[in-house]
Amino acid sequence: MFEFYLLIFLLLIVLIIVISSLKIGISPMPSSKAAQKKILEYAKNSKDETIIDLGSGFGSLAIFLAVNLPNKKIIAYELSLVPYLISKLLKSLLKIKNLQIYKKDFFKEDLKNATLVCYLYFEGMKKLEKKLFDENINTTIISNTFSLHNIKPREIQYAQDFFKSPIYIYLT
Ligand SMILES: C[S@@+](CC[C@H](N)C(=O)[O-])C[C@H]1O[C@@H](n2cnc3c(N)ncnc32)[C@H](O)[C@@H]1O
Repeated sequence: MFEFYLLIFLLLIVLIIVISSLKIGISPMPSSKAAQKKILEYAKNSKDETIIDLGSGFGSLAIFLAVNLPNKKIIAYELSLVPYLISKLLKSLLKIKNLQIYKKDFFKEDLKNATLVCYLYFEGMKKLEKKLFDENINTTIISNTFSLHNIKPREIQYAQDFFKSPIYIYLT
């Protein structure tokens, strides 16, 4: 009987994640390890003290950055409840001090004075580009897989993963 309830519970969790992903426009799929390493290469050279993960999913990228960049402050915004709760749990289990995770829509937050990292989707990148223009945000943006539409990347690197994921670097 316990197995039955466990199965129902797990199916419910998966269903909540699927419904949230459909509402938000993207699933909480994490960046590959190779993509995380490429992102770290650029993030560590950024002049900003703060790095913001725009849509942090289960928190793997934000945690990776926080552990490898102990002198920087990492902020992670995530809308989807289950990935958000899992990332909070991982943060406390791993006792990571320089990471703050919020269940918030990053489009409503102040993104100035920080390096931005993201792994979003077509429409999300359009909306992000509009926010950058409207709020006159001049910063470094490191984007996994998806490019901005009007701003030319300063550089494109390819992660050594299955998809050869492009990592776009922007200086706006
Ligand atoms: C593909 S995952 C990337 C996770 C992580 N950044 C990484 O690279 O491993 C994208 C995440 O962005 C979240 N997301 C999308 N739009 C968002 C928004 N406006 N505010 C907060 N989170 C958002 C989604 O819920 C999803 O979990």
